[in-house]
Amino acid sequence: MSKSHFAIYLVQLLLVVGPSDADRIKDTMYMKISGSVACYRRMNATHQIGCSSARGGSVGVVHYCDSATDLDFILKNGSAGPYIPVLPISLLSAETVSKLSSSKVKISGLLLHANSENLLQMSHENQCPNDIFNVQQAPKTCPDSGGWNPWGTGLLYADVPFPMFYMHNDSEVSAIRHCFQAFNNHSFATQAARSLCSLELNAFMYGTTNTQTCIRRSNVVTNLNPVKFCDPLGDSNVWGALFPLVTGEENDSQPIRDAKYIVVAARLDTTSLFEETAGAESPITGAVALLTVAKLLKEMLPAAAASVQTNVLFILFNGETYDYIGSQRLLYDMERGHFPTDLPPNNPILPTIYPENVTLFIELSQLGVGEATYAHYLSADAWLGKFAANLTRNNPSTVVPLKPTPDSLPPSSLHTFIRGNTSIRGLVLANHQTAYQNRFYNSLFDNSSNIGYRYYNGSEIGAGTLQRHIADVATMVAKSVFEEVTGQAYQGGASPSLLLVSDRDWLE
Ligand SMILES: *[C@@H]1O[C@H](CO)[C@@H](O)[C@H](O)[C@H]1NC(C)=O
Ligand SMILES: *[C@@H]1O[C@H](CO)[C@@H](O)[C@H](O)[C@H]1NC(C)=O
Ligand SMILES: *[C@@H]1O[C@H](CO)[C@@H](O)[C@H](O)[C@H]1NC(C)=O
Ligand SMILES: *[C@@H]1O[C@H](CO)[C@@H](O)[C@H](O)[C@H]1NC(C)=O
Ligand SMILES: *[C@@H]1O[C@H](CO)[C@@H](O)[C@H](O)[C@H]1NC(C)=O
Ligand SMILES: *[C@@H]1O[C@H](CO)[C@@H](O)[C@H](O)[C@H]1NC(C)=O
Ligand SMILES: *[C@@H]1O[C@H](CO)[C@@H](O)[C@H](O)[C@H]1NC(C)=O
Ligand SMILES: *[C@@H]1O[C@H](CO)[C@@H](O)[C@H](O)[C@H]1NC(C)=O
Ligand SMILES: *[C@@H]1O[C@H](CO)[C@@H](O)[C@H](O)[C@H]1NC(C)=O
Ligand SMILES: *[C@@H]1O[C@H](CO)[C@@H](O)[C@H](O)[C@H]1NC(C)=O
Repeated sequence: MSKSHFAIYLVQLLLVVGPSDADRIKDTMYMKISGSVACYRRMNATHQIGCSSARGGSVGVVHYCDSATDLDFILKNGSAGPYIPVLPISLLSAETVSKLSSSKVKISGLLLHANSENLLQMSHENQCPNDIFNVQQAPKTCPDSGGWNPWGTGLLYADVPFPMFYMHNDSEVSAIRHCFQAFNNHSFATQAARSLCSLELNAFMYGTTNTQTCIRRSNVVTNLNPVKFCDPLGDSNVWGALFPLVTGEENDSQPIRDAKYIVVAARLDTTSLFEETAGAESPITGAVALLTVAKLLKEMLPAAAASVQTNVLFILFNGETYDYIGSQRLLYDMERGHFPTDLPPNNPILPTIYPENVTLFIELSQLGVGEATYAHYLSADAWLGKFAANLTRNNPSTVVPLKPTPDSLPPSSLHTFIRGNTSIRGLVLANHQTAYQNRFYNSLFDNSSNIGYRYYNGSEIGAGTLQRHIADVATMVAKSVFEEVTGQAYQGGASPSLLLVSDRDWLE
């Protein structure tokens, strides 16, 4: 999502030893760096956030830092600025960025790497993600100490006044280190008088100021080649129903107008400060669990019996990181009678589904292997307590218990629906009780190794694996939804395919 929708930019990195004037010298002294990703610009109604280089690129003298002390040294003693510090990514924090922004020695960019670092956590999301769009009521929905995401620096929402790149390639990082050591790392007082190792960072983005300004500028037609300064953030939610929404033969069908709906929801995408992430724990664990529930329920309930009054909607919400835009749009449409499509009420083609028709909302959030699976719900609703007890009874895992967790609701699309109507019944399944277990939430490193994923390539997928865990969560959800739909316990033998849950393509 974040990549294609509002980014009009060029990304390039050059390592330069200058000054030079002959072309042939240029070839030997410039090195183009390929393995890097840039931080990019975004806008909301009132602010701009993220980064951009200067038009044509931002140039600065390399200062390779192994520690915060090296950085402080150049901020105090630098005489040949502007500088581009090269830092281990673990040092990237809101304090570092604010120190660099306000420094007297000019900083024209920042280059980050994870060279030989054993990163224990990294998240640039807020500590209370989505807070202003969450249900505001007592008990507070974000824990006071550290929040849901205690590792969060909040940098994802900061306006950074210089470009930042993250470098993947260790040999390119050491090339920069060597260049720094050879040309820059001595006699700091005379740096200004000699040839220095420098970097040019090019990630220029046209958009500035805020959404209104940027869209207005894009709409001004000044010549025959209109410039597009920014794109709106947006994409599509994806949904499907367990049973048809209509009854009767093809070309002669009637909408089913008196059904109830259970929603099973998850996120479809994620974001990151740098334009890359695998999104392994968020959203992939939840989305894979959702697809597994859907496949399992289809095997348990191949067709709706005449007695079945309840249908199941599977929904993957898009763009939830940014103000829950996916669920807000879906709720907006539902409230106005525009879901599933924009047909008038009582049309002969499809039923109109309103929020009141949703009797239960189950959200599959982050579901990596944890000590327990927590069923969060906001009120101490007795009915939800019973549903959580059904989940517990249907949990096939002997290792990871289900723990009902009333009066608690982590950031989730369910917040949007409860804000629309407090009487909607819903719960969120996640592997954390208070603080996220995921130490890399919405970051570049929310990857397969950090959730302990292993590809088995045909050999047996045993107990205790991520695949087994997600299959178990899906089984308990599918069986409990089956009971809701039919009013009876499931007696059949359907079980999820571990091979499908394990499919490597999810994580690549
Ligand atoms: C750095 O600056 C401080 C004071 O500004 C000075 O005392 C120190 O000698 C300088 N160090 C070097 C290596 O230039
Ligand atoms: C826009 O983003 C900034 C920075 O995160 C935030 O302070 C501000 O409240 C946001 N504005 C709106 C209207 O959401
Ligand atoms: C790293 O960079 C070097 C030099 O640019 C290049 O030869 C090598 O293929 C790169 N390695 C990877 C894994 O991309
Ligand atoms: C720069 O020089 C100092 C002092 O000689 C040394 O301790 C440090 O490791 C050097 N830095 C790099 C990145 O080579
Ligand atoms: C339904 O209508 C379409 C278009 O008129 C037609 O191609 C199709 O054969 C019809 N299906 C049946 C089962 O009559
Ligand atoms: C949704 O609920 C309304 C009001 O309870 C009802 O009239 C309508 O038939 C329901 N719609 C569907 C599609 O079941
Ligand atoms: C909220 O939902 C309840 C139960 O579905 C319904 O009776 C009520 O009218 C809804 N309230 C609003 C404001 O839509
Ligand atoms: C729990 O399961 C029982 C037995 O299958 C079923 O009758 C009941 O309706 C379920 N309760 C809830 C709240 O889902
Ligand atoms: C995942 O991130 C860690 C850093 O936390 C890194 O060491 C590891 O190589 C990454 N794994 C993959 C598969 O990218
Ligand atoms: C998976 O197993 C097949 C057959 O044994 C083998 O050819 C293939 O290289 C293996 N792939 C991986 C990624 O290990």
